Amino acid sequence: MAKQNIFDNDTFFEGYQALREKEVNANNLFELPTLNALMPDLTGKRILDLGCGSGERCADYLKRGAVSVVGIDISEKMLEVAKRENADPAITYLHMAMEDIASLEGPFDVAISSLALHYVEDFAGVIEKVHDLLSEGGIFLFSQEHPFSTCYTGKGERWTRDENGKKIHLNLADYCIEGKRETTWFVDGVQRYHRTFSTTVNTLAKAGFQILQMEEPYASPEILEKYPEYYDLFHKPDFLFVKAKKTSLY
Ligand SMILES: C[S@@+](CC[C@H](N)C(=O)[O-])C[C@H]1O[C@@H](n2cnc3c(N)ncnc32)[C@H](O)[C@@H]1O
Repeated sequence: MAKQNIFDNDTFFEGYQALREKEVNANNLFELPTLNALMPDLTGKRILDLGCGSGERCADYLKRGAVSVVGIDISEKMLEVAKRENADPAITYLHMAMEDIASLEGPFDVAISSLALHYVEDFAGVIEKVHDLLSEGGIFLFSQEHPFSTCYTGKGERWTRDENGKKIHLNLADYCIEGKRETTWFVDGVQRYHRTFSTTVNTLAKAGFQILQMEEPYASPEILEKYPEYYDLFHKPDFLFVKAKKTSLY
């Protein structure tokens, strides 16, 4: 199955880095706080990070008491940043696609993936491999772009707006048509994969995961007061989080 490495495209990489460097962005306001709220106790744990990017999270796992971290990523540019800015003897960065993790030596106690799985076509294959690599009772925590975002095909307007351009509601279409979507984000031809909620949950259950918690973060009153534009998240959350546990009950 196809694997795109868009983060090694110079224009994409620069655009993405500039976005993440902004103090106010959806990652800092919603994604990271939700991931942290769902984070299990990492004391003494062996961690696998799928799509670790520039490694900030890998360094954070150590601060939370993890004994070792393996961070894998398909992008050499992202790994260069990780090795330069977030190196530690307890972290191993590997240039590897998450579709290929069967070659890793486990087990891991916790697998984490932040905003990377929507780039993967073979979701079921990756989920099965994560299950194989986890110790019994191990935790798999991931975030991805929300299915109400990934379903957008580029056809028609994504939002209905009022006469001032304010978003009134999402125009949901093609939700039940799963598979590849090509969008423009810094560059044309960025590939992502859409899956419905039921496919996501059923794939995890079939692999032997028990769902512990799901989250779709939206703006708190405090955030809304400072950044009213994030009212949009009440119409369409940007992110979906799943926390699941490996079990042999299935
Ligand atoms: C949006 S970034 C998130 C990076 C990091 N997890 C974070 O939250 O800061 C997505 C990352 O997933 C990586 N990625 C995309 N497809 C991948 C694949 N098939 N296997 C491994 N990494 C992949 C990209 O190279 C990129 O570093």
